[in-house]
Amino acid sequence: MTLTATTPTATTGAQRAASRLATPWWREAVVYQVYIRSFADGDGDGTGDVTGLRARLPHLASLGVDAIWINPWYPSPLADSGYDVADYRAVEPLFGDLEQATAMIAEAHGLGMRVILDVVPNHLSDEHVWFQAALASAPGSPERARFIFRDGRGEAGELPPNDWTSHFGGPAWTRAVEAVGDDAHPAGQPGQWYLHLFNTKQPDVDWTSEDVRAEYDDVLRFWFDRGVDGFRIDVAHGLTKHADLPDTGEIANPHRPFGAGDHPFLDRDDVHEVYRRWRAIADSYDDPKVFVAEAWTGDPVRLGLYLRPDELHTAFNFDFLVSAWREPELRDVIDRTLAAHRAVGAPPTWVLSNHDVYREVSRYAREQDRPQLGGEEDFTGRPADLEVGLRRARAAALLMLALPGGAYVYQGAELGLPEVEDLPEESLQDPVWFQSGGQRRGRDGCRVPLPWSGAEAPFGFSERPDGAAPTGQPWLPQPASFAGLTVADQDGDPTSTLELYRSALSLRRSLEALGDGAMEWVDGGDGVLALTREPGFACWVNLSTQPVALPAGAEVLLASGPLDDGDGDRLLPTDTAVWLRR
Ligand code: GLC
Repeated sequence: MTLTATTPTATTGAQRAASRLATPWWREAVVYQVYIRSFADGDGDGTGDVTGLRARLPHLASLGVDAIWINPWYPSPLADSGYDVADYRAVEPLFGDLEQATAMIAEAHGLGMRVILDVVPNHLSDEHVWFQAALASAPGSPERARFIFRDGRGEAGELPPNDWTSHFGGPAWTRAVEAVGDDAHPAGQPGQWYLHLFNTKQPDVDWTSEDVRAEYDDVLRFWFDRGVDGFRIDVAHGLTKHADLPDTGEIANPHRPFGAGDHPFLDRDDVHEVYRRWRAIADSYDDPKVFVAEAWTGDPVRLGLYLRPDELHTAFNFDFLVSAWREPELRDVIDRTLAAHRAVGAPPTWVLSNHDVYREVSRYAREQDRPQLGGEEDFTGRPADLEVGLRRARAAALLMLALPGGAYVYQGAELGLPEVEDLPEESLQDPVWFQSGGQRRGRDGCRVPLPWSGAEAPFGFSERPDGAAPTGQPWLPQPASFAGLTVADQDGDPTSTLELYRSALSLRRSLEALGDGAMEWVDGGDGVLALTREPGFACWVNLSTQPVALPAGAEVLLASGPLDDGDGDRLLPTDTAVWLRR
């Protein structure tokens, strides 16, 4: 079921190397997402950190990824796991310091991997000096103009300025307490309201402010100058707002934008100006820097607008992530994605999971009768068959890595980790849990610290350089069921998901047909996705309920699960994918 041939004949390694050199790296990179808090803990306090990441860089290099993307590592009160940035030019002490971070970047480069950081331009932390200054300043002051402060509605301004709600639940406005008190309010009187599309500790900045624009230009340069190769842009479809901040009343679900560019706060046409400005900064470097947008547009054509030649390089393709594991839906998403990207000359990227969504093993373990929107509320309480989920997740990985363009692998996907669905309530930390009043458990189930080795928690997650025992527990508890799924358990086992990923990534590097470029569909029968790429490659994925015969004469390079030997024909079982040399 694993590699049956390691030396492709259609292309020599030298040819492949030459074609790689001609292709900008970001057009076909496989990027590994490091959720720093949960990747590896190098000082034993139970929280992942830069020391832990540095120690594991050789592991990532041997996995065969081209780049790593690190979730926010900046100083932060961690009200939203680091997406509440208090200082952009430093590293959160729990994670390390700037010197360690800079050394890590150089070490990753030394191992042949690029490094992408996360920039969060829609909002800052309420503990950022700018917001503190805004609170201490009067309404109408330049300090407040960097954020979105407005007077409330109602006679005494007691009602929020409009009806917008937070992505995490509840109103998107919090009323500030003015610094100056009066007799009735000695601690300060209730004052203006400020906008936060996420947590109350994440005030939105105002992108009409030149201060804001200049600050983010400078933040990008700060890290680019330290060797960082690019940025993932958080909520890239956010940032700009309608000047009048109109109510969203008419819009059924204001957080699913899907409009024509004039939604009050999402995917607005005027956000593109920001990215044209950023692209000029990226292009000013000798080895140009790159961007990947987190833009939930729900429409490949709208997504394509972010990828016009003078804007961003790539964007996450969430339509692929949320697609049900069904042949017509996946084929349709792939076709629409390819067409929209072709129209702007940008490479697609493919992604199955990240730190915000239910892990693919657990999504695919459910009945595939609806889109996989990703939030845990769509999955809890529905029967799950994790064996089926894993089989599909492995097949999906081979499909993803065979498609034209780049791909993102969320840490733990290469181990086939399921969602941790039974975290004790007292351990939950996601603001979604608190802001929804305990109605939604939030995203912690996909953020549990990785299992590296051993038979019980912390599964090698916390390791001190001097070998002493860890002093803290993993920040989210690891389930006993991680035993058997550790890196050490899977290392060298040809049936493991880790070795499947290693084989796929190594083949992907050696085969000229893979990475950037084009593909064609061929007829594989009902419920089968069969695609070819030149020279000489095919990927077949069986999403039907029956085994299907593989094309005669094709050599199996890699399979996501055991193949059946029929009467002389090799059969591809349900929920299985193969890579073939034609
Ligand atoms: C993005 C991040 C998510 C965060 C939100 C607010 O969607 O991926 O984790 O909560 O933005 O910054």
